[in-house]
Amino acid sequence: MSQLISLPQRQTEVAPAQAGRVAELSIIVPTFKESGNVAELVQRLDAALEGVEWEVIFVDDNSPDGTSEVVKAIAASDPRVRCLRRIHRRGLAGACIEGMLSSSAPYVGVMDADLQHDENLLPRMLATLKKGDTDLVVGSRYIAGGSAKVFSKSRGLMSKAAGSLARMLTRIELSDPMSGFFMMRRDRFDPLAPLLSTAGFKILLDIVLSAKGGLRIVEEPYVFGSRTYGESKLDAQVGLDFLGLLLTKLTGGAVTPRFLSYALVGSIGVFVHLAALRLALLSFSFPESQAIATFIAMTGNFVLNNSLTFRDGRLTGLAFGRGLLGFYAISSVGALTNVGVASWFYAYQPTWWLAGLAGALMGVVWNYSMSTLLVWRAK
Ligand code: GDD
Ligand code: MN
Repeated sequence: MSQLISLPQRQTEVAPAQAGRVAELSIIVPTFKESGNVAELVQRLDAALEGVEWEVIFVDDNSPDGTSEVVKAIAASDPRVRCLRRIHRRGLAGACIEGMLSSSAPYVGVMDADLQHDENLLPRMLATLKKGDTDLVVGSRYIAGGSAKVFSKSRGLMSKAAGSLARMLTRIELSDPMSGFFMMRRDRFDPLAPLLSTAGFKILLDIVLSAKGGLRIVEEPYVFGSRTYGESKLDAQVGLDFLGLLLTKLTGGAVTPRFLSYALVGSIGVFVHLAALRLALLSFSFPESQAIATFIAMTGNFVLNNSLTFRDGRLTGLAFGRGLLGFYAISSVGALTNVGVASWFYAYQPTWWLAGLAGALMGVVWNYSMSTLLVWRAK
């Protein structure tokens, strides 16, 4: 397990501190495998933001291509550049949130690292905010003057459909709610931060929905550029996260994507249980088979939840074993709770399926809360 790590020589030369330099604008750039883009982006920011006291904070999820090393090499001679390296974590939204929270500037902007967002819009966004009657400026591809021609036909349709769906379900007015390019007053962001979801790509939509109409928003058009180095990280998972966010907001936070995923894994578990039971019955007695099937289903549920429902806090090695034992214990109590509630319900209202459902629901809520609290310690 423990490895001997050779540490590099301690750096003794320190660049002279730039006394008095305080950033008025922090630009947060989430990165995952963008080593070939960061130097160019810093140069472009430098050119576009002349006369502005800016800093850029790259939030890198420990990219295997060494993005954080590249950023830190630039930062070694440019105090405007910082790198926040996150380990064992993934997620565009979460990276943006942590980057924004690390800022002490009055204005924070978010943009992609891959040069697809037009940095020349930044001064205009800042000027709009500084006028004082706007809280959030959104770079939009879908108002006059903006475009996203580089998108493939299907990706373009998807992007627009996601925007329309969000508008339909939430009554927000944004032309490009899926934009990852925006700037806002930090004093408006800070109080919203605890309400935001860290998964997926929909950070802007989440901010606007969480503010419940409390933000004064202006949209500015820009032309979405093409990516030259690296590839897009938007995948099916990102799409699911997006639908999940809409669901959470629509149910006032009652149903979260994590809970849905947990319940879905539970339903799959029922089928796993029945299949295992059928097979075990070929060579064991019924009680033995039922016990075997229960263990297989619980183990299967644990593995699935560990890699899907709680993938952001996935347990490995020793923690996996400990988590599995905890999960067995919680599920056993959950089963007892299930039977208890169902029987109690049945005594008052003898409708078998209603009582069964009430028990199952109670069981899954118990299992979910306890697993979240004790096994994966997720929020
Ligand atoms: N830290 C971190 N962690 N950064 C990430 C992650 C992650 O898990 N996934 C993606 N990023 C970074 C990328 O490195 C890039 O700088 C930025 O987030 C956007 O990711 P892309 O993979 O380039 O997204 P895209 O170009 O396909 O999607 C664009 O359109 C979406 C909606 O239409 C972006 O503008 C998105 O922000 C936008 O939501
Ligand atoms: Mn991109």
